[in-house]
Amino acid sequence: MSNFELKSTSCWQNLQKHYNEEMQTVHLRDLFKNENRFNEFSVSDDNIGITFDYSKNIINSKTFKLLMDFAKEAKINEYAKKMVSGEKINWTEKRAVLHTVLRNRSNNPVCVDGKDVMPQINAVLSKMRKFSNDLRAGKWTGFTGKRITNVVNVGIGGSDLGPKMVCEALKYYADVVNVHFVSNIDGADIYEVLKKLNPQTTLFIIASKTFTTLETITNALTAKQWLIDQLGDKAVVNHFVALSANVKKVKEFGIDENNMFEFWDFVGGRYSLWSAIGLSICCYIGFEKFVELLEGAYYIDQHFLNTPYEKNIPIIMAVLGFWYNNFFNASTCAVLPYSQYLHRFAAYLQQGEMESNGKTIDFENNRINYQTGPIIWGEPGTNGQHSFYQLLHQGTKFIPCDFIGYINPVKKVGDHHEKLMANYFAQTEALAFGLTREQVIANLNQAGFSQDDMKVLTNHKIFDGNRPTNSILISSLTAKTLGALIALYEHKVFTQGIIWRINSFDQWGVELGKVLANVILPELKNGSKNPHDSSTENLIKIFNSNK
Ligand code: F6P
Repeated sequence: MSNFELKSTSCWQNLQKHYNEEMQTVHLRDLFKNENRFNEFSVSDDNIGITFDYSKNIINSKTFKLLMDFAKEAKINEYAKKMVSGEKINWTEKRAVLHTVLRNRSNNPVCVDGKDVMPQINAVLSKMRKFSNDLRAGKWTGFTGKRITNVVNVGIGGSDLGPKMVCEALKYYADVVNVHFVSNIDGADIYEVLKKLNPQTTLFIIASKTFTTLETITNALTAKQWLIDQLGDKAVVNHFVALSANVKKVKEFGIDENNMFEFWDFVGGRYSLWSAIGLSICCYIGFEKFVELLEGAYYIDQHFLNTPYEKNIPIIMAVLGFWYNNFFNASTCAVLPYSQYLHRFAAYLQQGEMESNGKTIDFENNRINYQTGPIIWGEPGTNGQHSFYQLLHQGTKFIPCDFIGYINPVKKVGDHHEKLMANYFAQTEALAFGLTREQVIANLNQAGFSQDDMKVLTNHKIFDGNRPTNSILISSLTAKTLGALIALYEHKVFTQGIIWRINSFDQWGVELGKVLANVILPELKNGSKNPHDSSTENLIKIFNSNK
């Protein structure tokens, strides 16, 4: 099927017609005249403690049916089964996509190239358990015999964002070890971390699937030199471990093979927090909590694979995103967790969604003629309310939002949680229903405004509403529910990739910048010259002559 044909399919055409004729102009105020709307458009799963309310979306029963028809036609379930059974669905890199097998708590065999990969996964998990238990118990010590109190994860992209987000999210459960994350090649990042640390009590985790990433290797070399300068060469073995798929490069770097925690080609970087890349999480909150994280994700894997489309949360999230992206022309999507602990969640999802679905070539290797992955952004509530929510409510952009909230706080502090959650509920209500001209006039009258003031103010105080939101309401923030939440988004991204008929698992788009930086680096270091456009050439000239 070519691109043109996808847009010409009856499923797409039906949605387009439905949008043009019915949904383009409908308002959530009218849709909510149906009193059964919440029951019709929400899914609750008491086993994991998640309610997904999607009733505040610009859909009716017909929209939902047409979106489900589209998803069925796209054969999401068939593709999902291909993924979890180890088929090489990442066709441009000829790789299987098996982050799900890392959390396969059933332990049933899963084969890649005819070989069951569960034994190797279990072996690495055991090694992670032993190492993190020893470290946390003070049995794994530094070179001078001192207990390790600080762990520094050196990695970037998927080797940083996932573990960092999880450590921040579950920080309440941390106890005996501090974690730090160094990712940026800007020397400021490692400088600011190292200046607080004592080499005798610091362990470096060098996290890189390829072990060739410029940022990570540069930071790792700086960390190694810092340690050697203070404790000598022999200390490296006590203070450096590696997480990688590249044994050769790890050894070349000078890290003992016994101190390497392996993962494999079938684990994509942005899906790797469930693998050895989660070692910093184990050190920080303990291996048992890491297993809970895996269990939560496994639970959602089963939900995704076995639940009918109509009740399947990731599929519903995906088709709603598709609906706005491809029919309402929404180009961004905000993710707004009402939890300070999730303050890195949007940053993590940016890689998960945008590196996965920021693509323009389809299943047949043709250029596509429709929109794919949206821009993902967000900040925790209520902070966002005091910065960008003005635009969400009254700006000219159409921005669907996900609101994530918790029923019980991890730690009760006075009445903070009720106040936080009052805002969580209020915002989706305000976005959906707004404030009409009549309501504004009535409010101004009641407040005693003059007719002149009312003339000026009325338009400014109207909220159009009709701004769609999903509400994800979770019992409490635990390792298990966090694992589940992350997996919901992973499978949403997967589903959208299939809908858009793209490869969600490669990332060729990050290559060109890396190649050009390697060309430019010697020009900055020793003044050598390469041909560039006049803008780049002059910028480099100014840099070199003023440094
Ligand atoms: O450049 C993008 C990328 O390849 C990501 O996909 C990946 O998560 C990141 O770089 C880090 O890669 P590595 O773990 O190999 O250092």
